[in-house]
Amino acid sequence: MTRKRVAILISGRGSNMAALIEAAKAKDYPAEIALVLANRPDAAGLDVARAAGIATAVVDHTAFGKDRAAFDGAMQVLLKQYRVELVCLAGFMRILTDGFVEAWRGRMINIHPALLPAFKGLDTHARALQAGAKIHGATVHFVVPEMDSGPIIAQGAVAVHDDDSAETLAARVLEVEHRIYPLALKLVAEGRVHVDNGRCRIMGVRPPERAFIVPDTPD
Ligand code: GRF
Repeated sequence: MTRKRVAILISGRGSNMAALIEAAKAKDYPAEIALVLANRPDAAGLDVARAAGIATAVVDHTAFGKDRAAFDGAMQVLLKQYRVELVCLAGFMRILTDGFVEAWRGRMINIHPALLPAFKGLDTHARALQAGAKIHGATVHFVVPEMDSGPIIAQGAVAVHDDDSAETLAARVLEVEHRIYPLALKLVAEGRVHVDNGRCRIMGVRPPERAFIVPDTPD
């Protein structure tokens, strides 16, 4: 089995990055983490990656001012240098140029802390609470120029509790993120995800039949 070479792009703590690194330790995992790339030198996830023996690099966006194309170009140089085949955005807080996104179309995925297409953008947990949603969750999707859009690869859901705060809800969603991101990367790396008319069809897996109902049926 040839493992796909993956770069993970981060801006912060990197807990999803850590979940991907952990999954890729398995001998039969179809991807290896070739590089962790941050746009901030103080991204906490960099230390986690280094401790795991993963190559790291920083392209500090502040050095590029408003020139997004030059920033993306500098990342592109590194991705080429490390012979990267797939890119995972994991809490990467920069808007990418259309050129960069197009260059990685079908080979770049992102995790978003909501059940897309609901709650695109920031503060998803507070907004889900505000909206009174009973089910919330996370989505892994292919990246397209429009933000938080793109074919959906995997989703995971949690029940919203009456006494949830944005923080408690975020914590439960994060656990789901750490499960669906390694799963989605595995499926993509195995070449089992086919995009057809904007929808992902996934070969060789069957979704569970059971429904997830909130509130649960009273006893
Ligand atoms: C996650 O909630 C992810 O869904 C969002 O940003 C957060 C990053 O967290 N895109 P971490 O850096 O992976 O811990």
